[in-house]
Amino acid sequence: MLKVNPTKPEIEKIRVAARLIKNGGLVAFPTETVYGLGADALNPKAVEKVFAAKQRPPDNPIIVHIANKQDVCRLARQVPAAAEKLASQFWPGPLTLILKRSSLVPDITVVGLDTIAIRMPRNEVALALIKESGTPIAAPSANLAGKPSPTRAEHVIDDLAGRIDAVLDAGPTRIGVESTVVDMTVSPPLVLRPGGTPFEKLKSIIDDVQLHQTVGAKRRMRVLEARSPGMKHRHYAPNAQMTIVEGKPNQVVTRMQGLVYLYVAEGKKVGILATDETRSDYKADVVKSLGSRKKVTVIAHNLFKTLRELDLEGVDIIIAEGIPAKGLGLAVMNRLRRAANFNVIEAG
Ligand code: TXA
Ligand code: MG
Repeated sequence: MLKVNPTKPEIEKIRVAARLIKNGGLVAFPTETVYGLGADALNPKAVEKVFAAKQRPPDNPIIVHIANKQDVCRLARQVPAAAEKLASQFWPGPLTLILKRSSLVPDITVVGLDTIAIRMPRNEVALALIKESGTPIAAPSANLAGKPSPTRAEHVIDDLAGRIDAVLDAGPTRIGVESTVVDMTVSPPLVLRPGGTPFEKLKSIIDDVQLHQTVGAKRRMRVLEARSPGMKHRHYAPNAQMTIVEGKPNQVVTRMQGLVYLYVAEGKKVGILATDETRSDYKADVVKSLGSRKKVTVIAHNLFKTLRELDLEGVDIIIAEGIPAKGLGLAVMNRLRRAANFNVIEAG
């Protein structure tokens, strides 16, 4: 573990990590969204190690991270005008663009697809690492496949210790949910995964952009309908069984407290995922708040950390409040519903 200054990363530490990347090693590093598990995107053997370390399903392609907008032209064979517009507006930032890939990109990085996911992160440590490595860096979130994404270096260690070569530790990530993934190879462009760049902001730049039907889904959709291979895998899941209760806050609280009594009667240890406005309304073994309903950025920032904390408390059941699926809230609800394996209850 290498501790680095988040805003002015020490160059000698970045060089150590960059050498590992150049030699085909695996380095976990912070981005503004979550920690990524980085490898040289152009080295098939290195990318293969990423799949092995994470136990990632072999049909789930990896996002390629760049430090210079011009690098898109090497990795993609076509950059539509709308993609250029989004990149100039939102890069560096939590936005991933799917484009037609060039022949430079090894098959394994994109699991044999004709497309590539590219993003330029807004994080000084990530940008320094990519620049110093002199190669684009393929990096999925640095968690074991299926687990909540890591927003701190400790989360990476908990999941991947002994399986990777280094972690650059720059403290907690700012945003806390992953990048928004937009498919620019179709018309109109399609959001495949909501994330750190809200849909409303994309729409203000490109007004025909649409949400894929799985993005806001409260029920699992058939795999055939999933455009992004990652959509069909279980995600973000804590060890505990999880239920989401959505609806008006006061009705949600009543319904959730009712569920607590039922589970407690069955001898279960129950954890509640609440908000600041409601946390004192619950009686349960563990009650945690994600933050105020008025500050969805704080809720997003705390989401994955709190899911991991509930697992450490050893609860059998997690019951979580839904929040409005607007702005960053869409990404939060997308992750919560998947974490709960679409076990969603509507309260009134
Ligand atoms: O914020 C983020 O995006 C973080 C940080 C580390 O950059 N990365 C991340 O990577 O979340 P990962 O692997 O956990 O999620 C990548 C998502 C998956 O759902 C994957 O299926 C999708 O992007 N994806 C990657 N390449 C794709 C492609 N060519 N076509 C469609 N979807 C793709
Ligand atoms: Mg992931």
